[in-house]
Amino acid sequence: MTGALDPAGIPVDARQRHGELSHELEDLAYRYYVLAQPTVADADYDAKMRELSDIEEAWPALRTPDSPTQKVMESLSTDFAPATHLERMLSLDNVFVDEEFAAWAVRATREVEVPAWLCELKIDGLAVDLVYDNGRLVRAATRGDGITGEDVTLNVRTIESVPSRLRGDAAPELLEVRGEVFLPTAAFAQLNERLVADGRAPFANPRNAAAGSLRQKDPRVTATRPLAMTVHGLGERRGFDVPSQSAAYERLGELGLPVSRRYEVVDSTEGVQRYVAHWGEHRHDVEHDIDGVVIKVDDLALQGRLGSTSKSPRWAVAWKYPPEEVTTKLNNIFVNVGRTGRVTPFASLEPVHVGGVTVSTATLHNEDEVKRKGVLIGDTVVVRRAGDVIPEVVGPVAALRDGTEKKFRMPKKCPECGTPLVRPEGEADTRCPNTVGCPAQRREAVFHFAGRGALDIDGLGYETATVLLEHDRLHDVGDIFHLTAESFAGLRGFGPKKIQQILAGLEAARHRPLWRLLVGLSIRHVGPTAAQALARELRSIDAIMTAPVEDLAAVDGVGPTIATAVAEWFGDERNRAVVERIRAGGAQVAEEGPAGGPGPLDGMSLVVTGTLPGFSRDAATAAIQERGGKVVGSVSKKTSYVVVGDSPGSKYDKAVQLGVPILDEAGFRALLDQGPTAGAAAEG
Ligand code: IVH
Repeated sequence: MTGALDPAGIPVDARQRHGELSHELEDLAYRYYVLAQPTVADADYDAKMRELSDIEEAWPALRTPDSPTQKVMESLSTDFAPATHLERMLSLDNVFVDEEFAAWAVRATREVEVPAWLCELKIDGLAVDLVYDNGRLVRAATRGDGITGEDVTLNVRTIESVPSRLRGDAAPELLEVRGEVFLPTAAFAQLNERLVADGRAPFANPRNAAAGSLRQKDPRVTATRPLAMTVHGLGERRGFDVPSQSAAYERLGELGLPVSRRYEVVDSTEGVQRYVAHWGEHRHDVEHDIDGVVIKVDDLALQGRLGSTSKSPRWAVAWKYPPEEVTTKLNNIFVNVGRTGRVTPFASLEPVHVGGVTVSTATLHNEDEVKRKGVLIGDTVVVRRAGDVIPEVVGPVAALRDGTEKKFRMPKKCPECGTPLVRPEGEADTRCPNTVGCPAQRREAVFHFAGRGALDIDGLGYETATVLLEHDRLHDVGDIFHLTAESFAGLRGFGPKKIQQILAGLEAARHRPLWRLLVGLSIRHVGPTAAQALARELRSIDAIMTAPVEDLAAVDGVGPTIATAVAEWFGDERNRAVVERIRAGGAQVAEEGPAGGPGPLDGMSLVVTGTLPGFSRDAATAAIQERGGKVVGSVSKKTSYVVVGDSPGSKYDKAVQLGVPILDEAGFRALLDQGPTAGAAAEG
């Protein structure tokens, strides 16, 4: 800020920024509502709106009636006839955190006691107004500027859940209702797939897809899109008398209108917070996108008393969840060669913050997936990170293309060893067939062999593996157990201490259970579950190596795909030679102890939640599995124990609720050491 004031006493740069933001928001609203091709993520739009609102808070003279903070921002295009709503359609104010909601509630309801709040999901779709005249749908319109929208009656008539006649013979004389039109998440994915297959640009998210589908000039196109609608409000009405929002929903449902089953009436702001927290955790269990929760005063008379501002009601507010989608630049697409030779394209992104982490790469899985998503190198793309899920490129913002974007082509040769890549007929994956010689495959395989999920060799991480391979001290996993102090001679960064650590790590790894060795071999499809099944049943690497495919497939938990992969792997003489060198290096290649002895945790299922200071997640899982137990993802009545570390998630609450035994780390250790009796004693 320069400090200079204009004649109205407002800092020059505040006024200038206000002008910029207003202009920018008008433009963004036009792209969002009219073109259905937004160029920024919703969160960026919200952030700009807040900045504008903050400036106006400081300099109220800037808050003129035409400011984007004061009006409903949806504009009109000329493609559809204008339709004036019978009653104005408003928008909602937003809050994002507890304190903001509390402050809003105090401000909104200063003079009145609110006995009941209605909480419902905020559907990420587009608002539509329906008018029923004596039970017949006579008009449907988009929101527009809140006073006049666009007549989309013909298009809305194609939506299956919107009745053209209300049910029963007591239909109100006049009924105007509002709701959200949306495209379910699964239908969105299918639609995009179809668009790309037809050589057209996909939509960046379900909301745009719904808007684009509804605003088709030809309703027959709309009819091919499985749009749905949920009604969430009333406008003008005659012959429809109800005391509350919740009673209205019940009645609307009886009339055959689509209303949500997920609303809840609560009697306190704590109840509101619980609802918000619950759906924050379960937002992905809903069949459509939600971007928050809407909280309304339930009593309609009270709503009337509280009234509204020019833009939004004082009796309702939107509590928005943290954004899960942002836009960023897709700078390039590279490929990775994995330990089994699979070649995976991945997006190199302009680093961006989303869902609590900074994302600069995201996998694109395979060649078809890149095509299916319709992304081009140089595109602005939507990146999504939902909950704990790994970040994903959703799709391109096609409206921002300038013609310089380039199509991704799968390389013809392996980027590391130059071997021509293959993609077998009918398979999605492209592979480097040079399983033995490819440096990338060897590096990844060694790293995996030594990694936590497999033999867990202390000191042998990615960098050490790379250095040893590059200096020819190691050629493949068969050499690992032959490493000695001399193997590190002349290598920088390997002092006696580090070498000692690695050798001790190797010695410990020689005695790990057979299933870990099997996982370490990087046989396609063989993860911990299959490896444990094979080890439990066949008990030695020799038995597994020589078993016919049918015997392998007959092992409980194995099946034909895994059995074939195992037989093929051991059928390759080079792989058998690797196994022999592992054996010669002193590794344990058979199960110890008597056959078939049940593990102490046999038949038990455990859930681990939160961080355990003494165990990584992998180590806790392995410890349970080694004793015959199963690790499952969610708590049910059948769960034997829930192991709870620091900052546990909702699984802890669920365990308490269902009365499932809970173990802290000490209790967990006792369970591992002494079996269930000890574990039960340590519950707490
Ligand atoms: S009530 C007068 N309830 O969110 C208040 N709106 O950001 C009318 N929306 O314009 C809105 N789900 O299009 C309400 N359960 C819900 C909603 C919802 C989505 C949309 C609606 C509104 C926008 C405001």
